[in-house]
Amino acid sequence: MVEKFLEGKGALITGGASGFGRGFAFAYAQRGANLVLVDINEELLEETSKKVREQTGQKVIPIVCDVTKSDQVETTAKQAFSELDNVYILNNNAGGGFGFFDLTRVKENIFDKTIALNLKGQWLIAKEIGKRMKKQRFEPLAGKVIHTASIAGVKVDGGTPVYSICKAGVIAMMQLLAQSLAPKITVNAISPGYHLTGAYKNNLDVMKMTMDEGHVKTPLNRYGTVEDVVNVSVFLASSASNFITGHNFIVDGGIVEVGVPAYFFKSDV
Ligand SMILES: NC(=O)c1ccc[n+]([C@@H]2O[C@H](COP(=O)([O-])OP(=O)(O)OC[C@H]3O[C@@H](n4cnc5c(N)ncnc54)[C@H](O)[C@@H]3O)[C@@H](O)[C@H]2O)c1
Repeated sequence: MVEKFLEGKGALITGGASGFGRGFAFAYAQRGANLVLVDINEELLEETSKKVREQTGQKVIPIVCDVTKSDQVETTAKQAFSELDNVYILNNNAGGGFGFFDLTRVKENIFDKTIALNLKGQWLIAKEIGKRMKKQRFEPLAGKVIHTASIAGVKVDGGTPVYSICKAGVIAMMQLLAQSLAPKITVNAISPGYHLTGAYKNNLDVMKMTMDEGHVKTPLNRYGTVEDVVNVSVFLASSASNFITGHNFIVDGGIVEVGVPAYFFKSDV
């Protein structure tokens, strides 16, 4: 049994149909939140919304929206506040990589597409939701914004350079928003490492191959799960984190901050 500390609160999750977004949705609804789930994948969005609604009894509103399009984002923000009454938590989470090349060989359309989804999309959502969130009357905080960044934004990843640029930008944007939205809204980011989601087609072999190609080893010697990231998000959504803003939480089993001793290279993970 979990404490329902989100009762009476609304949460909007982009990329809510799959992976981390889906995990956030279940976790918040179990804690009493009503949800708006935003995604571009209509079929998966309907399926996830139905499951969360059935399993938790909470209100779950699916909104099909491409976060790279300002008109769609504006309509979504208006609809979200009228459906939920408030948006106390925003998980700015939709994202993904396209193409894996050396930076000098990246095609312009791939560059633009990657920036649009991972950087501009998070900015559009933060802008439209943030300005409305500011006016809410909750105490002591009016709301909480949680971005999904990546370890690729902390330690640049030459295998996926444009995505890396975007995620470094997301961390900078999160800190700028933490300034703009203070003192009534906290803004933080979570930077996951390697976790099995739609990003790897939910296929462990695809993720293992990506890790092998990048010579990635994990000090804590296991693969990341969706739950590892959801747990931090629940903390950031709770009052336990009310004095934390502008912080990037790396959740990667130690890949970036710790590194591994040589004997670890014999391990599988
Ligand atoms: N899986 C990992 O190991 C990992 C590591 C670091 C960061 N991330 C980040 O986590 C976030 C969530 O990804 P995930 O791993 O859960 O993958 P996922 O593919 O399971 O989920 C991403 C969701 O975003 C949606 N989406 C894609 N483009 C969209 C658009 N234009 N508008 C609205 N929705 C859109 C997809 O339909 C999908 O449902 C992303 O920002 C990703 O960059 C993932």
